[in-house]
Amino acid sequence: MFAKDAKVRTSKYAYASTLDELKDACEKIGYPCWTKPIQSSSGQGSYFVKRPKDIETAYKEAHAHARGSADKIIVEEHIDFKLEVTELAVRHLDENNKTVTSFPKPVGHYQIDGDYHASWQPAEVSKKVERDIYATTKKITDCLGGLGLFGCELFIGQDDTVYANEISPRPHDTGMVTMSTHASGYSEMGLHARAVLGLPIPTVEANNVRQIPLMSPGATHVILSPVNAGNVQYRNIYPAMNMYPNSTIRLFGKPEAHVGRRMGVAIALADTAKEAVQRAEKMAHTIEIGSNGKWYAQDEKIKHVL
Ligand SMILES: Nc1ncnc2c1ncn2[C@@H]1O[C@H](COP(=O)(O)OP(=O)(O)OP(=O)(O)O)[C@@H](O)[C@H]1O
Ligand SMILES: [Mg+2]
Repeated sequence: MFAKDAKVRTSKYAYASTLDELKDACEKIGYPCWTKPIQSSSGQGSYFVKRPKDIETAYKEAHAHARGSADKIIVEEHIDFKLEVTELAVRHLDENNKTVTSFPKPVGHYQIDGDYHASWQPAEVSKKVERDIYATTKKITDCLGGLGLFGCELFIGQDDTVYANEISPRPHDTGMVTMSTHASGYSEMGLHARAVLGLPIPTVEANNVRQIPLMSPGATHVILSPVNAGNVQYRNIYPAMNMYPNSTIRLFGKPEAHVGRRMGVAIALADTAKEAVQRAEKMAHTIEIGSNGKWYAQDEKIKHVL
C-alpha cells in the first residue's frame, strides 16, 4: 500500500512463501537484507540476513514467530539510516466538520533487538526533512482514511531521504513521550480519543502545516526486566523520580516479568531532547526489579547510541 497506493519511498522489497522463493527474493534484493513474517509484532520473527547461508535460519525464524495464519515473508533492502522517527499524525474533524490532518513534532527513537529502547521529541531533523516527514505521513494516512492517531515509522537515510517503514493505526510505543511533552490531555492517547470522538484538537499553523505544539523537549527510556519472575516489585522509584524536575516513572503493572520484557518507562523533560534522553536513561537504570526477596539492577551491558 505504501509503495503502490500512497506512492511513498520504501526500501526495495519482495515476497516469498517457500524456502526456494526466499532464496530468490534475497538474491533479488541483495545483502544485507531483512526477512520478516508479514504479520508479527515487536520485531519477532525478523532476521537480518547478512549472507546466503543465513537464509535457512531466517526462514525458520519467520515461521516460528509469525502471527495469524499468514505464511508469507517479506524481504526488505537494508536501509543504512541515520535516524528513525515516528510521526504521530492525527486525522480529526475541524470546526467545519471537515477531516484534517495535524502533526505533532517528529519523535526520534532507537531500537535494540527490534524493540524500541528510547525515544525523544523533537527529533533532530532539518526543516526540509521535517516537511518530507509530514508529506510522507499525510500520503499514507490519506490512503488509510478514518479518524484517529497513526504512528508512522520512518527511516531518515544518510542523504536525508525519508523512507516509510510501517504504521500503527493507533498510539505508538515510541509516542509515550507525549504524556509529558504535549499539553495535559493531548498526549498521543488523548489525541486519539479526541479524534475518534470528534472533540476539538487545538493546533498551530506553521509553514502551511497544522501542528500540535510541543510544551517542552522530552524523552522516554524503557525499564526492562533483567529477570524471569512473578509478583514483581520495584525499588528506587523515589530517587529516580526526584532526580530531575517534571520527570516521571510509568510502570505498566504487568504481573510477570521475563528477561527483556518492557515493564515501564521513565519520562524526562529538559531544555534539549538530547539532555532529556540522558536524564530518562539515568532514571530508568536507577529502578531495580525484585522477586522473592532478591533485587536486580537494569542490564548495564546494553549500550546506548546517543
Ligand atoms: N529494511 C530495514 N532497514 C533497516 N533497518 C530495519 C529495516 N527493517 C527493520 N529495521 C530495524 O528493525 C526495527 C524493527 O523493524 P519493524 O519496525 O519492521 O518491526 P516491528 O515488528 O514492527 O517492531 P516494532 O513493533 O517494535 O515496531 C526497525 O525499527 C529498524 O530499527
Ligand atoms: Mg516497527
